[in-house]
Amino acid sequence: MCGIVGFVGRRNAVPVLLEGLKRLEYRGYDSAGVAVLLDGQLQIRKCVGRLRNLEQQLQQAPLAGAPGIGHTRWATHGEPSDVNSHPHTDSSGRIAVVHNGIIENYQELRRELEQKGHIFRSETDTEVIPHLIENELADGAANFEDAVRRALRRARGAYALGILFADDPEILYAARHGSPLIVGVGDGEHFIASDVPAILNETSRVIYLNDGEIAVLKADGASVFTLDGRAVRPEIKKVEFQAEAIERAGFETFMMKEIHEQPRVLRSLIAKHIDSNGHAQLPGFSLADEYIKGLARIMIVSCGTAYHAGMYGRLLFENLAHVPVETDLASEFRYRNPMVDPGTLIIAVSQSGETADTLASVRLARKWGCKVLSICNVRGSTLTRESDAVFYTEAGPEIGVASTKAYTAQLMAFCLLTLHIARIRGTISDSATRELARALQRIPDAVHYVLGRKDDIQKIAGKHHDGPSSLYLGRKYNYPTALEGALKNKEISYQHAEGYAAGEMKHGPIALINEYLPVVCICTRTEDEVYDKMISNIKEVEARHGRIIAVATENDRTVAGLAEDVISVPDMRDEFSPIVNIVALQLLAYYAAQARGTDIDKPRNLAKSVTVE
Ligand code: AGP
Repeated sequence: MCGIVGFVGRRNAVPVLLEGLKRLEYRGYDSAGVAVLLDGQLQIRKCVGRLRNLEQQLQQAPLAGAPGIGHTRWATHGEPSDVNSHPHTDSSGRIAVVHNGIIENYQELRRELEQKGHIFRSETDTEVIPHLIENELADGAANFEDAVRRALRRARGAYALGILFADDPEILYAARHGSPLIVGVGDGEHFIASDVPAILNETSRVIYLNDGEIAVLKADGASVFTLDGRAVRPEIKKVEFQAEAIERAGFETFMMKEIHEQPRVLRSLIAKHIDSNGHAQLPGFSLADEYIKGLARIMIVSCGTAYHAGMYGRLLFENLAHVPVETDLASEFRYRNPMVDPGTLIIAVSQSGETADTLASVRLARKWGCKVLSICNVRGSTLTRESDAVFYTEAGPEIGVASTKAYTAQLMAFCLLTLHIARIRGTISDSATRELARALQRIPDAVHYVLGRKDDIQKIAGKHHDGPSSLYLGRKYNYPTALEGALKNKEISYQHAEGYAAGEMKHGPIALINEYLPVVCICTRTEDEVYDKMISNIKEVEARHGRIIAVATENDRTVAGLAEDVISVPDMRDEFSPIVNIVALQLLAYYAAQARGTDIDKPRNLAKSVTVE
């Protein structure tokens, strides 16, 4: 979604803003703009399209000045266009604003302001903010800060804002409510950004703003206030990862780099959490053993890829920890009556920790008295600050819009949490725990093995990428794998793909099968009847001449005899095979996208973190 960068200090803001916006490109956007203060005037450049369009505009009409604000816009209200791009100004052109979020009552505010003579130029909800501030200044606000506070008290919805006043040239104002915004603390300068990577080359000291806070930033100082004017002591935190973590490190895309990081991420999660007895240890985990023993139910809420991780988590918890579990899409959970009570543990899964629906679900659940455990990749994110306990997936920054390493880290988080909870609840024996831990430890090498097959996978993708559609089938632990594999394909190759529980195939999707349809069947060997059932499904596809691409255990002759193409994976325990199998499907989607010539790291229309409903 929209990205914000801002700078106040004694050098030209423009290069800082452009570099920051480039580092936020992964969030998804369709237009971009900057504003800086120069000789008491606000100077703005903005246009539709990629950042290179803005750079071209800046070459033709250069800008220099400070403070400055920059923005990448992901259109919600009003089409992507030059005029709808941010920054937006008030009637006088003396106040400039960049915004991420949605001002829900913008129509009524706009009507009111228009009646007072304000002239609006864009179709955006954002434009009401500079006009509201202008209005408050005219209506007797004590100063600029007071005008911002008064204006924001009238706005309903979500916002992260960067605000400049031509008549207050030393200060950059920032505000946050429901959309992410951080303050970067430099030497004699300050920054704002939607996300840490935007400013990591400038500083690693950050202040995470809370909802309802306004930051007043000068070159030499930062003050933070609440909307009612109370001063808040800002806490400066050190960001743990290095700037190199957000470089491509020689890979052609961030997504490919992140796919390759998976063995390392998984290995370090295992090393951190499995002790020498094979027990899962969760240092700093703040849910008491007594609470875990008495757990009546778990409800997992999340969106997209994180939802698929939740589906996998449910199977593990039910099978190994014997807890009743429900999963729901956060966007649905918040509008139903899920009958949860304080005995229900809510597990929210989110790479970014900023997904609007997931956050809304968590807030509801807390209102109902439930405890919240989050599985999250971003330290300091809103979700982690609103949870009772956090399992950090520690996959490092994920820049590719399509989630890869964060997903496998989420699956691993569920494995480790399950082992921990199962041991406390006494549902698995010590020897079974040790055996599971040993199997877990084999996963990173198994993922490495799959990465080693990428040339074969590329060839397979090359044969099947040009059709209009494909079907992905899996069962039990690999049903979420089928959904996630299909989602990856859709997201980055734009080929329609449908993930299905293989047992459901006969209830509809079988009608799609003909000699052109690629059907990806996840059929790794298991100790239960699921394997036999998958073989039957594959035969049903074969009988209808579907083009079978199987993900199968190496040396499985049965599957090899049925499939047109086989992606071999090492022999794994049933429970853990999804962590390995999905890597094959990430690569399959990747090479299909490459063959189709899409923008893999920044697929069209997608945003990395969906911070509006
Ligand atoms: C993953 O490839 C997607 N881009 C998307 O489905 C994502 O998983 C979803 O938006 C949830 O994001 P979150 O994990 O940051 O909450």
